[in-house]
Amino acid sequence: MHGLVRRVALEDPDRRFTRISHLLDRIQLHAASLESYPSLFSVVSRHEFDECYHLAAQSFVAESFADGFSTMNTNINGTHYMLAALRELQPKCRFYFAGSSEMFGKVRQTPQNEETPFHPRSPYGISKVAGFELTRNYREAYGMFAASGILFNHEGPRRGFEFVTRKITSTVARIKAGQVTELPLGNLDARRDWGHSKDYVRAMHLMLQQHTPDDFVVASGESHTVREFCQLAFSQVNLDYRDYVRVDERFYRPAEVESLVGDATKSRTVLGWKPTYSFPEIVREMVQNDLRVTLGLTERMKTLQ
Ligand code: GDD
Repeated sequence: MHGLVRRVALEDPDRRFTRISHLLDRIQLHAASLESYPSLFSVVSRHEFDECYHLAAQSFVAESFADGFSTMNTNINGTHYMLAALRELQPKCRFYFAGSSEMFGKVRQTPQNEETPFHPRSPYGISKVAGFELTRNYREAYGMFAASGILFNHEGPRRGFEFVTRKITSTVARIKAGQVTELPLGNLDARRDWGHSKDYVRAMHLMLQQHTPDDFVVASGESHTVREFCQLAFSQVNLDYRDYVRVDERFYRPAEVESLVGDATKSRTVLGWKPTYSFPEIVREMVQNDLRVTLGLTERMKTLQ
């Protein structure tokens, strides 16, 4: 197992690799950047790979409105560079592209499946449509085993704090610990189809074990509002979200994806995939994890005082 990381991360492993510290003795890390074709080419020229999971991207939709240029440069060129380097050096390597339900954007049909037309609503969504089309083109033009997963939102305790689920569960824990008193959020009525990352990573792997490369929607088939997520997360600690959540215009997006819900029939039938986590289980696990981390830190701070 090999991984690509930024050079600065290699210089600060204790802080940068906390989420993979338990794996470090089993992976070889290489310094490379999605923005540099020579750096990717160099890694692909020095090692042989059976499968490549191209998950790296600027993945925060809100940031893509703030700096659309760097999102487009990194996401589109990064995908193109990976595909081009593999085609040149290791055309037999199987390639996975992380597509996104954000490609459906202003949805043309509900639920969304592999046939649903795309209508992205952000530079991020547009960059993912471009990556998806590049992947398909390399498959058709050069016969490469290049597959795309169209994954709906997938969450878990390792989620970044800027995404709405982790923002909610980490703030619930900080409210419980007496560190903050409110949770500012944007659109509470946005609907998302939330699943668990563990389940979704299994689907990615299955896609590369097939006889022929193809594209697959991975989703739970259930949609919930941000408000419902808040309700459930606060109820884990016996609080009412209405006492803490404050709507703040700053967290609204210039163009919103109002509602997403996926139809994963193809993944279920062709890949034999199905999710194992329910929506309440995901929320519970994330809140419990944040309580452990936050309250653990508070206790440790007290012993230091
Ligand atoms: N982040 C954030 N912060 N989102 C908020 C907030 C807030 O304060 N308040 C409301 N929301 C709403 C957003 O407007 C959006 O409708 C929804 O919560 C989910 O936002 P995110 O958690 O930031 O995720 P996302 O749906 O935009 O994108 C995620 O899922 C995609 C797959 O569908 C990311 O992981 C993407 O990289 C991924 O492709």
